Amino acid sequence: MKAAVIHEFGDFDALKYEDIERPIPKPGHVLIKVLAAGVERLDHYIREGSIVLELPFPHILGADAAGEVADLGEGVTGFEIGERVIVAPGYPQKEEETNIRPTVTAPSFALPGLHISGTYTQFMEVPAYALIKDETGLKPEEVATLPVPLATAVHSLKQIGEVKAGDKVLIHSGASGSGSMQIQVAKALGADVATTVRSGAKGEFAKTLGADLVINTRNEDFVERVKAWTGGAGADVVIDNLAGDVLAKSIEATKPMGVIVAFGFSAGPEVTFDIRSLFFAQKTLRGSMSYDIEDFNWGLEQVRLGRIKPLLDHTLPLSKVAEAHRLISTGQVTGNLVLLPWTE
Ligand SMILES: NC(=O)c1ccc[n+]([C@@H]2O[C@H](COP(=O)([O-])OP(=O)(O)OC[C@H]3O[C@@H](n4cnc5c(N)ncnc54)[C@H](OP(=O)(O)O)[C@@H]3O)[C@@H](O)[C@H]2O)c1
Repeated sequence: MKAAVIHEFGDFDALKYEDIERPIPKPGHVLIKVLAAGVERLDHYIREGSIVLELPFPHILGADAAGEVADLGEGVTGFEIGERVIVAPGYPQKEEETNIRPTVTAPSFALPGLHISGTYTQFMEVPAYALIKDETGLKPEEVATLPVPLATAVHSLKQIGEVKAGDKVLIHSGASGSGSMQIQVAKALGADVATTVRSGAKGEFAKTLGADLVINTRNEDFVERVKAWTGGAGADVVIDNLAGDVLAKSIEATKPMGVIVAFGFSAGPEVTFDIRSLFFAQKTLRGSMSYDIEDFNWGLEQVRLGRIKPLLDHTLPLSKVAEAHRLISTGQVTGNLVLLPWTE
């Protein structure tokens, strides 16, 4: 079978499209025929070696997969060959740890593509308890846009940000894989949404997702715009996907007693801010990492109800994986990019 493999950390050409051995499902595991695999910015960071210093090379990247059941390991019940499934985007490798919350703190927690073999492949082996029946009614390439973006967006807004109907929420990089999904989740929660972008075209895209206020940070100051939008108070919750030199301003744009959720670092991992900007007005800075299965199930229900839509930019054959990483890393993707392992 074919897979996209890295043998060492490196640039885009570290991704090799090659033949590897097809896995045989262990007892309790299921062999999945991967029909579509989403590409995350995280995959790019892992490939270049900026997330972990070691991997068990050769290694397969990818955390998002939509597929169908190809074979059942001994003892697996409840699934049938050919049934459409979604691979949970991270799960404990020990079944007895699946009740630990937050899930990411389970000692055996593993993200496909990071801690264990990932989804950039034609077949992968997954424990049956880490599979979700695909009842979305969507095409595989649409479903593959959902796992990480949807599950983590719900986690950051609903569970960590505690966003409720009527809240005014600022979400950065509204056309990105994470931001575009976070806008939709915030709207599904009944919030009013402001978002930042860096181009007119991305702003138009964010509007189609329901953003109430779009701020182009190339020529507008988002703190001023959010203050004006909220009658001078600031946002109830800010989802900060950017960090770098943006986080200090995110704190400024938050109302007294409000919450800033640190979610990502597209603008850089190092941040500097005046601690007085946080505690004088009793603001809270919280981290959001990964998701709990309840978040993903809630999000999938919103998809089934038509309140959240998959945001597929375009698909590429798995053999073009290096090009997919180049597009992601150079900001040329609006929404999500998906690899097709069975298309030439
Ligand atoms: N906490 C979690 O559970 C979790 C889950 C998923 C992702 N993440 C993290 O969240 C971040 C975003 O991921 P993603 O998948 O949304 O990435 P993405 O789709 O590649 O989008 C990144 C966005 O960041 C913008 N950007 C980059 N540098 C910027 C700067 N200096 N100032 C303003 N905007 C800037 C880009 O804007 P332009 O388009 O204008 O260039 C682009 O829209 C990453 O750090 C990722 O690791 C965290």
